Amino acid sequence: MSTAAERSQFRTEVIAGLSGMPPTLPCKYLYDARGSELFEAICQTRDYYVTRADLALHETHMGDIAKFVGKGAHIIEFGSGAGIKTRLLLAGLDHPRAYTPIEISTVALAESTRDLRATFPNLEIRPLQADYTQPIDDQALQLDPPATKRVIYFPGSTIGNFERQEALDFLIRMRNIAGEAGAILIGVDLIKPVEQLLRAYDDRQGLTAAFNLNLLEHIRRELDAEIDLDAFDHQSRFNSGFQRVEMHLVANRPTVIQIDDRKFEFQPGQSIHTENSHKYSIDSFQELADQANLKPKQVWTDPDDLFSMHWLEAA
Ligand code: AVI
Repeated sequence: MSTAAERSQFRTEVIAGLSGMPPTLPCKYLYDARGSELFEAICQTRDYYVTRADLALHETHMGDIAKFVGKGAHIIEFGSGAGIKTRLLLAGLDHPRAYTPIEISTVALAESTRDLRATFPNLEIRPLQADYTQPIDDQALQLDPPATKRVIYFPGSTIGNFERQEALDFLIRMRNIAGEAGAILIGVDLIKPVEQLLRAYDDRQGLTAAFNLNLLEHIRRELDAEIDLDAFDHQSRFNSGFQRVEMHLVANRPTVIQIDDRKFEFQPGQSIHTENSHKYSIDSFQELADQANLKPKQVWTDPDDLFSMHWLEAA
């Protein structure tokens, strides 16, 4: 259940998005409780190769990754740390000084912290409840005695969901948090044949379709909006100019979305653009990192070369 302020913010952003030409909706609202569940299920499908490849990469290169991280590092994860990848990382490192998951959801953070403390009783775990897309109070990340370095850990290719300029700003912020001696360990999905990409974002079990359509259900419920969910179909599209997969909700008949006194009309074929997933080559991502004044020092890929993990240094 969200607060009145959150609902008002949600309403403002939805109305602004639907008023745009073309209409859009912010992808962060895909993740209500049902959306998060569906995303977890998508990660288990054969068609969505991303999670499997990211995991295989961790399993294959953990020894080498640990050498780059070194002894006594402060691992700061952008996200709750609930995943298997975090466990592989923490188990593979040489005496990390501390681990800080940064997560907006109090419940997700408390659950993962409890579980990780049970698995790693000797590791100092310092959860931080915050929105990692917003400025973070550095005080909350300071350790006494200090760590040898800070390593910002951001697996899973969420960077792909940002527009290019947003991704650049985000890398600069991560660099500032890591500090001069610090580094960033970030997952980035790679460019691959279009059919494979479109399949990954329109899986045969229909989970991605349900995930995308659930965004409308989220709006209907939270904003008491009038929306005919059956009037929209999920579609994944590849935008070659931006090298990204886009998710759309396409009207299959004339329909109206009504939020209070605001009405948004859709004709068959008109779409609402709900998400971007940018894909990078190793070079194109390293160029972006370079613009953020980060030095690409190493990159790993999974055995099938589907996914990459970059080690970027601040100095
Ligand atoms: C969270 N993020 C990295 C996923 C992606 O691949 O862009 C979200 C997603 N959207 C559809 N399927 C998965």
